[in-house]
Amino acid sequence: MKTAILYASVHHGNTKKVAEAMAEALSAELFDLTKQGDVDISGYDLIGLASGIFYANMHKAVRKFAEETEFRPGQKVFLVCTCGMDSKDFTKKVRKTLEDKQVEVLDSFRCRGFDTFGPLVLIGGIAKGRPNAEDLERAREYARNLASTAH
Ligand SMILES: Cc1cc2nc3c(=O)[nH]c(=O)nc-3n(C[C@H](O)[C@H](O)[C@H](O)COP(=O)(O)O)c2cc1C
Repeated sequence: MKTAILYASVHHGNTKKVAEAMAEALSAELFDLTKQGDVDISGYDLIGLASGIFYANMHKAVRKFAEETEFRPGQKVFLVCTCGMDSKDFTKKVRKTLEDKQVEVLDSFRCRGFDTFGPLVLIGGIAKGRPNAEDLERAREYARNLASTAH
């Protein structure tokens, strides 16, 4: 299954670590959406969209890609996020954007990511050291499961 993971990781590179772990497990190709917004996904069967969370939503590069890209029937998408506070599923809005376009979206993955947004910097940030080795192992496991179930 030919897989691409498109990510935006602008705060501390947290999501990039997760995306790299998944890409290795899936032999996927990685694209940085903040550098290349117009990735041609026509040749891929499985597409991961990944980012940190900003004001309870995925990064604008991911939102834009989800809104503007035409997915072909049969392509499947999975969503990945890292967030300071793991309080809810912040991928919901992007999921809805895709599902409204009849795109099949698989279960998403999330974990905490080091966060020094605003006043949090005064306390040295939250979720220090995240994603950690355990998060990255969980990411690999999630990716391996995707590879075996997303046919
Ligand atoms: C401007 C800004 C807004 C953020 N908003 C949220 C938020 O609403 N909820 C949350 O859990 N984390 C929030 N965060 C924390 C990031 O989602 C978290 O640090 C994430 O791991 C960053 O990923 P990255 O390093 O890959 O960009 C915010 C961070 C910044 C800088």
